[in-house]
Amino acid sequence: MSVSAPKSRDAFASTLGAFAATLGSAIGLGNIWKFPYLTGSNGGAAFVLVYLLAIAFVGIPILVVELTIGRKMRASAVRAYGTVIPGQRFWAGVGVAGVTAAFLIMAFYTDVAGWVFAYVFKSFGAFLCGTALDGRTFGALAGGTWEPLLWQAAVLALTTGIIAAGISKGIEKVTKTLMPLLFILLIVCDIRALTLPGAGAGVAYLFRPDLSKLTAAIVLYALGLAFFKLSLGMGTMTTYGSYLPDETRIVPTATRVALADTAVSLLAGLAIFPAVFAFGGKPAGGPGLLFNTIPLIFSRMPLGGLFTSMFFVLTAIATIGAMVSILEVPVAWIIEQGHLGRRGAALLTGGLMFALGIPATLSQNPLLAEVKIFGKNFFDLFDFMSSNVLLPLGGLAIAILGGWALSRKDFAAEMNKGYASEPWHGRLVFGILKFLTPFLILVILLSSLGVINI
Ligand code: PFF
Repeated sequence: MSVSAPKSRDAFASTLGAFAATLGSAIGLGNIWKFPYLTGSNGGAAFVLVYLLAIAFVGIPILVVELTIGRKMRASAVRAYGTVIPGQRFWAGVGVAGVTAAFLIMAFYTDVAGWVFAYVFKSFGAFLCGTALDGRTFGALAGGTWEPLLWQAAVLALTTGIIAAGISKGIEKVTKTLMPLLFILLIVCDIRALTLPGAGAGVAYLFRPDLSKLTAAIVLYALGLAFFKLSLGMGTMTTYGSYLPDETRIVPTATRVALADTAVSLLAGLAIFPAVFAFGGKPAGGPGLLFNTIPLIFSRMPLGGLFTSMFFVLTAIATIGAMVSILEVPVAWIIEQGHLGRRGAALLTGGLMFALGIPATLSQNPLLAEVKIFGKNFFDLFDFMSSNVLLPLGGLAIAILGGWALSRKDFAAEMNKGYASEPWHGRLVFGILKFLTPFLILVILLSSLGVINI
């Protein structure tokens, strides 16, 4: 895909290209960092089970609506939602909330991406010196001042540069080639972790649910993760939908993206938890879980340092595809206003994101560690506000749009393009959208607020 000015609207060249780009937005830190860390902090398999249900009954249907509305409107998310039902401009609020979410997400996402980029160099350096990274490495990095800020600035500069130059074609190519490599390396990690003595406890932790552990808050985290993972509820997939070729079959594409994305998360979990248990670590290790575990897994292998840095190189590349897609949401909207070109819009957005990123990055630094809003530091607050509030609310509106507000005939006609008559899965997704998805989101939101008790 080329994210050039909306005037000359571009399109993915093929269904395969559309699939790769959509998957490129979905796969990122969410799989390798957030999924394991949230699973570990929320009791393991019961969380995974709720997460899988959320992907099936909320994630896939909403992905279908976003791609469908995007392709139908062929515009930025704000304009697409604001004009999808003539006379109902208020739906543009979904796009505006999405732009807000994009800023909040980037503030902490670039912090973590900065840690990943730093680890590429740190692990390679350790390999060259014949040493290994340990728990102190992460503490010093994340709790530092200039070092994490500089990495964050570097990551943002890189992403902004890519967006400004509109060279996502190159990125797409790189992502497409390196994504399978990430997959292979994850499998190498899995084999190593699963053959460690005591690994079985980690597998059980991931797959043997203890439903008594579930609380409304945990269910909300699983729902929020489903949105975050599939880049939903904020217009990213609507924007990508606007580049979708007409012949792409939306329901099968959305399903494949969700399946491939979930497979990557589970592979990451299968590397991390067996290792955590085998090495006597704590699954509830928080945001540092990935950074403390991966070097440990590889440290027991020949050339472990090299594997560690390769792992972080591939993770870094996966983050770029996701970050480009987040930045594109506000950038496409700003360009559409007509005051700024692509470069100006990218610089403005990147600059604002950096400003917002500073408190997130310093929230583990003694300077800001004690500053809490609603009991959360800035990092956690931005994460919570976006994943657990804005994205589910955006998703609720999108589900209502797809299931209730849009004309069933128009919606089905766009969703089922590529088929001679309405396929069974089109009817199934529509039924889920109408009778399940919005109610599930609503019940989860209300029960986590304590308004209802389930
Ligand atoms: N899906 C990405 C991940 O899991 O890392 C994060 C993300 C990308 C969230 C794009 C939201 C978004 F619009």
